[in-house]
Amino acid sequence: MNEANFIYSEAPQREPQRQEYFIEKCSEILSLKTSETGRELKAYVGTYGCQMNARDSEKLKGMLLKMGYAEAENEDNADFIIYNTCCVRENAENKVYGNLGLLKHLKKENKQLKIALCGCMMQQKHVVETIKTKYPYVDLVFGTHNLYKLPELLYSCLKDEKSVFEIFEEHGEIVENLPSVRNFKFKASVNIMFGCDNFCSYCIVPYVRGRERSRKPEDIIAEVKALAADGVKEVTLLGQNVNSYGKGLPEKVTFAELLGMVNDVEGIERIRFMTSHPKDLSDELIFAMRDLDKVCCHIHLPFQAGNDKILKDMNRHYTKEGYIALTEKLKKYVPYVAITTDIMVGFPGEYDVDDTIDIIKRVRFSGAFTFIYSKREGTPAAKREDMPDPKLVKANFNRVLETLNPIIYEINTEKVGKTYKVLAEGLSGHDKNLMTGRLEDNTLIHFKGNKNAIGNIVNVKVTECKTFYLYGEQEDL
Ligand code: 5AD
Ligand code: SF4
Repeated sequence: MNEANFIYSEAPQREPQRQEYFIEKCSEILSLKTSETGRELKAYVGTYGCQMNARDSEKLKGMLLKMGYAEAENEDNADFIIYNTCCVRENAENKVYGNLGLLKHLKKENKQLKIALCGCMMQQKHVVETIKTKYPYVDLVFGTHNLYKLPELLYSCLKDEKSVFEIFEEHGEIVENLPSVRNFKFKASVNIMFGCDNFCSYCIVPYVRGRERSRKPEDIIAEVKALAADGVKEVTLLGQNVNSYGKGLPEKVTFAELLGMVNDVEGIERIRFMTSHPKDLSDELIFAMRDLDKVCCHIHLPFQAGNDKILKDMNRHYTKEGYIALTEKLKKYVPYVAITTDIMVGFPGEYDVDDTIDIIKRVRFSGAFTFIYSKREGTPAAKREDMPDPKLVKANFNRVLETLNPIIYEINTEKVGKTYKVLAEGLSGHDKNLMTGRLEDNTLIHFKGNKNAIGNIVNVKVTECKTFYLYGEQEDL
């Protein structure tokens, strides 16, 4: 048995102990390389896509730092580069291919450099084929279901100096307690579930992230308590469809009940969650938002399109009037609720956006992510041939923005002169003399304030309004 084979058989079978073992093994190899090269080795994690991926990247970074890599600021001075990819729209994939192309010359300059790709894009067979044929300098590829195996796969890549491709078709057990870092000191994201069972007809997510499965409430609460003990004030509970949390767990627990448990954790001051699917938004959740003091008055509730026929073709399971009624109920019971959404334009068969515009006007959203439909191979919508003309789609998209943006501006204007509670997150990227934070309703604000306030919830008076953010001044300075 050669050394590597011995190591694989000697390694613990259970997770995460097995990966901890491989972290040790990688760290031995890295120390050797450090003494050979006389410099510290650095790793760069590039993240594409949604908050789920951002959270996954915190785990990747956690494992890499534990192995002994230092963090690289960018690709240029890294010895290990990993891109955590997204495939929800074509332009997300093109960005990855574009950046990957730029890495080729780095390999020539730095013989140590290993390049890895992981995440949603890699769950598609045609992507893996493209990587093998067009980007042969990629050393390591894995998918969404074996992200936790980074240490074991990287060990094999470093030890044997060979490229490693491992993609699982199906998800396994949820692996808890992986090393992780946090992108922010005072706020953190917590996965409460993985995957999606909704199969909206345009969406690739259910195919690349697998079936919906929830983490046990006790594991979630243990993580939130540990975060609170480490100074975190605000947690965001993450899932593709948090409203159906709890399905398949041995003991019945609803999302509203989970919110109640998180609300009881001492030290946590704000609770956010995303994303909510309108079809599963229960009265119980609306009442939890009303009654639980730490749950923020903000809900991200994607409606995608306004026309009932389009909604049916999208497999969304609600109607325009049903969606509007739901938002009215939210406004009735949850004081000051801010509703944000996702809107898609140009789905097959969508030639006008009149109903979409009607929803925007009647609901009055505080914010929205707007997308042009992107055909995703393997989804039911990809088979449709009744695509609207791209020029029409662009015009419809502009009509949506022209309706949306003035409403967002009006909603923000109403805040000028009033005082709000803001979690001061740090110095503003715009202007280092200002701090930045968010109101409870998730509006971004840049404000004059005392730097000692960073990490605390402070009163800030709004002085000026832009469409997508506010300016203000801290009170009680
Ligand atoms: N094309 C464009 N936008 C998409 N989304 C999901 N799939 C697609 C697609 N094929 C959008 C939806 C979803 C958000 C996360 O991404 O609006 O809510
Ligand atoms: Fe995609 Fe629909 Fe699942 Fe959201 S709910 S991830 S849009 S399939």
